[in-house]
Amino acid sequence: MKNTAVNTTIFSNTLFLKTAVAAAIVLLAVFAPLQTFAQGDAAAGAEKITVCLACHGQDGNMSQLPNVPKIGGQTEKYLLKQMHDIKTGLRAAPLMTGMLNALNDQDMANVAAYYASQPLAQGAAEPEKVALGETLYKAGIAEIGAAACSACHSPNGEGLSSAGYPALSGQDPAYTELQLKAFRSGMRNNDDAQVMRSIAARLSDEEIAALSSYVSGLR
Ligand code: HEC
Ligand code: HEC
Repeated sequence: MKNTAVNTTIFSNTLFLKTAVAAAIVLLAVFAPLQTFAQGDAAAGAEKITVCLACHGQDGNMSQLPNVPKIGGQTEKYLLKQMHDIKTGLRAAPLMTGMLNALNDQDMANVAAYYASQPLAQGAAEPEKVALGETLYKAGIAEIGAAACSACHSPNGEGLSSAGYPALSGQDPAYTELQLKAFRSGMRNNDDAQVMRSIAARLSDEEIAALSSYVSGLR
């Protein structure tokens, strides 16, 4: 009698667990779309970029001013996260001060969609930096356990939009260098789980210069 009672309890516990798991999966499936960022409308975004033109240009890739990133063709989710982070001060970007104040969340999603829809810039690596840059980019830094950049930023540097990983190819090398150094010093600290700070902490100046040149030529 006692055994049966125990067995029944185990059975109903298992059943409860199965039902709970099944319910959780259904709930996740229903609510997952709500957790993603607001859908951007590129055409509506094009109406909101007047203030951006002076520095980023119509296609996002003007970058004639030093240290202004190319944002045309950049992954959408990444662009939106950076706009939020810059607007709220989580990422320090002095030249961008006030630039996003007139944009609400939907406007920012629209502008992100607009710039993401533009073509990615193309650059060229300095030949003497390719060997070191390529090794670090594709193989990582085995002896110190740093992951290969290609694992997240993709083999051709186009990033992975769904995961919020930015494209690096075609980027102005001076800008990339500045960002890697900012992650290394902790001045830029808006990367979730310190993913870039922990990697950049292991890079020397020479490695950063090689990587920045190498990725600009990726396509
Ligand atoms: C006065 C020049 C200037 C203007 C105007 C400007 N930006 Fe920027 N923007 C910059 C600079 C410089 C950075 C890099 C900041 C840093 O060093 O971290 C930047 C960074 C960004 C980034 C992050 C890019 C990346 O690869 O991480 C986004 C996104 C961005 N700007 C969007 C915009 C949008 C949208 C507008 C218009 C609403 C705008 N910017 C207006 C200068 C400008
Ligand atoms: C585990 C995934 C991962 C790996 C590996 C990785 N990155 Fe990143 N990287 C990210 C993420 C995520 C961001 C965006 C952080 C944020 O939200 O600001 C980023 C941002 C960057 C940026 C800033 C881009 C911009 O437009 O401002 C650069 C530059 C960069 N990574 C270079 C590298 C290089 C070079 C390597 C290899 C040495 C590397 N990353 C390895 C995930 C990764």
